[in-house]
Amino acid sequence: MSTPERVDQHDGRAFDEWYDVFSVAADDGRQYPVGWAREELRVSMTRDDAYWAREIWAVRDEAGAIAGAMQVDVPLADNTFRLGAVIGVRADVRRRGYGRALGQLLDQRAAELDRSVLVSQVEVPIEAAGPTAGQAFATSLGFAAANFEVHRVLELPLADAVLDGLAAEAAERHSAYELRSWRDRCPDDLVDAFAALQSMFVLEAPQGELEVEAERWDEARIRQAEAQNAAQARHSWTTVAVAPDGTLAGHTELVRSEHDAGKVFQWGTLVAPAHRGHRLGLGLKARNHRELQHDHPEPLVVHTWNGEQNTAMNAVNAQLGFRPVERHEEWQKFLGERTLAEH
Ligand SMILES: CC(C)(COP(=O)(O)OP(=O)(O)OC[C@H]1O[C@@H](n2cnc3c(N)ncnc32)[C@H](O)[C@@H]1OP(=O)(O)O)[C@@H](O)C(=O)NCCC(=O)NCCS
Repeated sequence: MSTPERVDQHDGRAFDEWYDVFSVAADDGRQYPVGWAREELRVSMTRDDAYWAREIWAVRDEAGAIAGAMQVDVPLADNTFRLGAVIGVRADVRRRGYGRALGQLLDQRAAELDRSVLVSQVEVPIEAAGPTAGQAFATSLGFAAANFEVHRVLELPLADAVLDGLAAEAAERHSAYELRSWRDRCPDDLVDAFAALQSMFVLEAPQGELEVEAERWDEARIRQAEAQNAAQARHSWTTVAVAPDGTLAGHTELVRSEHDAGKVFQWGTLVAPAHRGHRLGLGLKARNHRELQHDHPEPLVVHTWNGEQNTAMNAVNAQLGFRPVERHEEWQKFLGERTLAEH
């Protein structure tokens, strides 16, 4: 086994060699593999980004081929005590210590980058009984499960009459709110309020035992995210609810990439606490799916992830017809003795 090496993500061939191993290993065994498409990940790895630094690492077998691959995500603008990582090892060389070598390297990078909380995701088949390889591996590295979500899917298109019926049912209770939708670029008159909603999102969505602080969003960050989406050939459909006083009460966002045919991803949905109880969650989602279907009437599968304890969101998703396909667990490891309060 080689010593883990940093891969230069700006070197196209080196990135491709790394991606070929990483994408297959990380999506291994999943009924609905949803790892990022090659070009989406390449863009996020190579574009200047003021909010995230990204690293990729590899460990090689005796023949010099990549055996294990790791992606490391370093938040720069908020949550700067955290470090995110995903490790994947080629199926034919598992249980030989490649994963552990990358895990040890991760601890070292965390110390070098002055990070004290490591986070990773483990995808678990919905019917898995005992610990899976991913869970056993994360445990062996000293991680503990901290947040439990369910990955659900919905086949589109839904009949327009179904979406219109759900929208009408919701509208009975949110007639005081105006729904506005856009594609790709947030209108200038809403961008500050939209940034405020995004800043609220992480703390309002259930996070279990995860150590996490609010993200800091402003117009510059919204515009950078939109520019990155464009570079990744992603398109977004967003619907917001404008309250009677002109503030934003909630939003929902669907995203698809031209590099990832057939899939749509549900990004954030949030109704601000002061505006809950008006069926805005259902109203926003029914409208937004209608907007998407207007542009894309072809068959697509929508993917969404929600905390198991998020009963309101799960009830809305059930009304739309989402069904569970996978458990998505967020695992966490503390390094040293520091706590969030000390950051
Ligand atoms: C999880 C994964 C990365 C492990 O890679 P690996 O190179 O086989 O792991 P290692 O050989 O370094 O194993 C380290 C320890 O993890 C545990 N472990 C790993 N795989 C295991 C398995 N299938 N069953 C039980 N324990 C396991 C063991 O404690 C092992 O130590 P041991 O072999 O001395 O008993 C690999 O199975 C994989 O790529 N899975 C798909 C992607 C994934 O789930 N990634 C985890 C999210 S970051």
